[in-house]
Amino acid sequence: MPDTPRAPALDDTLALLREGYTFIGRRCDELGTDLFATRLMMTPVLCMRGAEAARMFYAPGRFTRQGAMPRSTLWLLQDKGSVQALDGAAHRHRKAMFMAMMSPGAIAGAADLLEKHWREALPRWEAAGEVALFEEMGLLLTRVACDWAGVPLREEDAPTLAAELTAMIEYSGRVGPGTLNALRLRARTERRMRALVREIRAGAVPVPEGSAAALIAAHRAPDGTPLDEKAAAVELINILRPTVAVGRFIAFAALALHENPAWRARFAAGEEDGLEPFVQEVRRFYPFFPMIGGRACEAFEWHGHRFAAGDWVLLDLYGTNHDPRLWPEPHRFRPERFHGWPGDPDTLVPQGAGDPYQGHRCPGEWITIALMGRAVRLLSQAMRYALPPQDLSIRLNRMPAMAESGVRLREIRRAA
Ligand code: HEM
Repeated sequence: MPDTPRAPALDDTLALLREGYTFIGRRCDELGTDLFATRLMMTPVLCMRGAEAARMFYAPGRFTRQGAMPRSTLWLLQDKGSVQALDGAAHRHRKAMFMAMMSPGAIAGAADLLEKHWREALPRWEAAGEVALFEEMGLLLTRVACDWAGVPLREEDAPTLAAELTAMIEYSGRVGPGTLNALRLRARTERRMRALVREIRAGAVPVPEGSAAALIAAHRAPDGTPLDEKAAAVELINILRPTVAVGRFIAFAALALHENPAWRARFAAGEEDGLEPFVQEVRRFYPFFPMIGGRACEAFEWHGHRFAAGDWVLLDLYGTNHDPRLWPEPHRFRPERFHGWPGDPDTLVPQGAGDPYQGHRCPGEWITIALMGRAVRLLSQAMRYALPPQDLSIRLNRMPAMAESGVRLREIRRAA
């Protein structure tokens, strides 16, 4: 059996912090491999990239997410008791609840809500003179997420909830005082969501039939027991937080329109065909989650490497989305590559790989695409705007990444 390539450093923690999104891909290139061993925080880890690695990593039952992420990341994102922390039949059963929320009608409904709140925000943006789109999306998508999920939201509470949900994402990849504050904010959201679940179950707060809030409050395990309040609150947050996270992709889409004005002109002229390829290219091109961690559920062999049960593995999502074997000229923004794309589930992996019903792939992918498509249409058809001089650079060692300026727009005018 060939030796698994090994990164030269004794420990790569500082290199990961320094290099961020490019950390795994760079070493794969240097070592001429898709799998190498190193240490992070002195713990042995295997790093992988590419479509075959993604397929293997997302094969049902192969890797658990338990013990695979820094604790603060886990608490801020999915948290204990969530679908992501489950495995096997329990995971499939809980996941079916999420997939049941994603009917074509519900997805179109989410895009319609985005348009409603966007059009309501436009006069304020006009009057403001200048806005940072990324910041604006936090509040706007909090309203969309709550309306969509059936979570009652008083107008005066919207900024607080938006700040809490945004902080969960912003600090998921960092450690320090900001992370502690984000954890404190998250605890507050969780308390409110637990109270809401209690009230829904007691019939004190009516929620629309079939909404995420109704489905989560009524969900039962295969043995008939309802979700405990903590798990129900966590799953409700698991809808709200990532819906707000789509704002990052929307800000990146605005940046892509700015840097590719021919596409903006095509959409402004009413072209619909290019919308989905454009959105897919934004999801491929711009950095979001750099990697995903797992621990091997049992021993197995893959490409000459023997994995032992419990081995810690990181799959490079960003590197797979920029793998030149899958995406020629990966660092060029070219939506054309998605015209007639066969849709291989293991090559475009910003939201995971494999089958969302069977494994941990994101259940919110269709909603994400629908929200982004509607936002691109609104940006290019419902409004005129200019970008003032600003720092649009993206630091690839800041995870999750964003253009430094947050994509500032000015001279916003509603289109006739
Ligand atoms: C900004 C867009 C989004 C990104 C980049 C994203 C990314 C991801 C990734 C990479 C995973 C896989 C985690 C793993 O393999 O363990 C995931 C899982 C998940 N996502 Fe998303 N997501 C997004 C939007 C959404 C939306 C809109 C929802 C719900 C409305 C959602 C709900 C979830 C849930 C519940 C899981 C856990 C699935 C499981 O463990 O089976 N996400 N997401």
